[in-house]
Amino acid sequence: MTKATENWIEICSLDEIPPSQARTVNIGNASIAVFRLSDDRIKALENRCPHKNGPLAEGIISGDDVLCPLHNWRIHLEDGQVAAPDQGCVKTYSTKIEHGIVFLDLE
Ligand code: FES
Repeated sequence: MTKATENWIEICSLDEIPPSQARTVNIGNASIAVFRLSDDRIKALENRCPHKNGPLAEGIISGDDVLCPLHNWRIHLEDGQVAAPDQGCVKTYSTKIEHGIVFLDLE
């Protein structure tokens, strides 16, 4: 389903996020970790680990997952699911890249 244009928030240019790294975006009360994968896909998660609130934007990207910087929980960037044997889920946000600009859907 196509979403209305006004849901998309311009974040930054793709070049401002180095490959395999992330940046933190604060919008209202939300802190969002925006990840650039090695193949230039962009993924976005709530910047808070479900274990003890670790800042996921400071974690290490491993494939399509991020490893929490505090206790190494593995969280899938696509759906926010925590890998077993740990349990939990992180809110995800849709992203898109248009003309080299990264957009985030806050819905
Ligand atoms: S706070 Fe993320 S693994 Fe503990």
